[in-house]
Amino acid sequence: MVTLETDRLLLRGHWQLRGYGLFAVEERRLGLLVGRVGLFNPEGWPGLEVGWLTARPCWGRGYATEAAQAVLRWAFLDLKHPHLISLIRPANAASIRVAEKLGERLQGRTVLQGNEVLVYGLGRDDWLASGGSSAGQEAN
Ligand SMILES: CC(C)(COP(=O)(O)OP(=O)(O)OC[C@H]1O[C@@H](n2cnc3c(N)ncnc32)[C@H](O)[C@@H]1OP(=O)(O)O)[C@@H](O)C(=O)NCCC(=O)NCCS
Repeated sequence: MVTLETDRLLLRGHWQLRGYGLFAVEERRLGLLVGRVGLFNPEGWPGLEVGWLTARPCWGRGYATEAAQAVLRWAFLDLKHPHLISLIRPANAASIRVAEKLGERLQGRTVLQGNEVLVYGLGRDDWLASGGSSAGQEAN
């Protein structure tokens, strides 16, 4: 069973082991924690994943997309990773929409921990060519 403490340790350990991980996302004006977004790539993962999760009362306000755009800039420009994926359950329409807004495209399917997931992905060169490096900058 994954408890809150296990989850916290897993997320901290990921930063220690990989040098990157998930960020807390705050609503700037009120300082509210609205979710977590970042990079995830534990052993055996199908690739370097940009992942997102926001609190239900905050859904639909663009927070996941805005935060993920910042993570893409960090991963592609600063960390120089050539390719990112997002693993999404087929029924998760909101998450698929976030992937599409980021410029990710469906690149395949796989089974992860017993569940079928869609593999969305985006290469650094395609992201640069599409002008992704300036996407979401106005929100900063
Ligand atoms: C998926 C999730 C992160 C989206 O967060 P969010 O902050 O609401 O995302 P955004 O506001 O940036 O964008 C959501 C988009 O999905 C769209 N959307 C929401 N529900 C939808 C649905 N049922 N069908 C199609 N599109 C949908 C929204 O309209 C919006 O698109 P738009 O800007 O074109 O209108 C959030 O719903 C969540 O945390 N879900 C639970 C955890 C989860 O599924 N994590 C992802 C695992 S892969």
